Amino acid sequence: MSSSLTRIGILISGRGSNAMAILRAVEEGRLPGCEIAVVISNIAGAAGIEAARAAGVPAVALESKGRPRAEHERAVTALLEKFRVDLVCLAGYMRLLSPEFTQRWSGRMLNIHPSLLPAFPGLHAQRQALEYGAQVTGCSVHFVDEVMDGGVLILQRTCAILPDDTEDTLSARVLHEEHIAYVEAIARVVSGEYEVVGRRYLKQGAGHRD
Ligand code: GRF
Repeated sequence: MSSSLTRIGILISGRGSNAMAILRAVEEGRLPGCEIAVVISNIAGAAGIEAARAAGVPAVALESKGRPRAEHERAVTALLEKFRVDLVCLAGYMRLLSPEFTQRWSGRMLNIHPSLLPAFPGLHAQRQALEYGAQVTGCSVHFVDEVMDGGVLILQRTCAILPDDTEDTLSARVLHEEHIAYVEAIARVVSGEYEVVGRRYLKQGAGHRD
């Protein structure tokens, strides 16, 4: 990112624990040069909206239900622009995005997914991993492109799948890694010290994967 202050807009649909992890990191000075400009939910009444407001961050519900995608995305874009957002973080945002929207934010929009992509994209990733019999899973933070859960990976963190895991216990363990991973991935992108070669995120000058 080029400007000295990176204004982050977070899009959520629910609980918002990743949004709060990012917010806490900013508050605690673990993401220097970043501020949270706005949290936007496409679901009215999302718990994450209340949590963001309680933390003193502007938070807006822009209901998507029953609205054509293009129209809703125009409203989201207008709000992101109003709050002068530089970097968009999708954090449990459960709405598919149009190619127009993903292209507009290309290289400036991240998503977190609770699996080691490309394994288990889409919904219920932790359940998919359990049912498949995977022994290791984790989370992935990636740039968003027009393919769902398909953009260039920025960072992955792993965790073991234990014999007595349920979807809930596994999800909790993955979530713990998500909160660490998202903050670290934002720091990487905001530093600007990387290049994307083909599908590979490479730390600049290092000549190898970070
Ligand atoms: C997380 O598991 C995230 O990876 C997935 O949706 C969940 C959102 O959780 N995309 P939260 O709203 O951040 O607590």
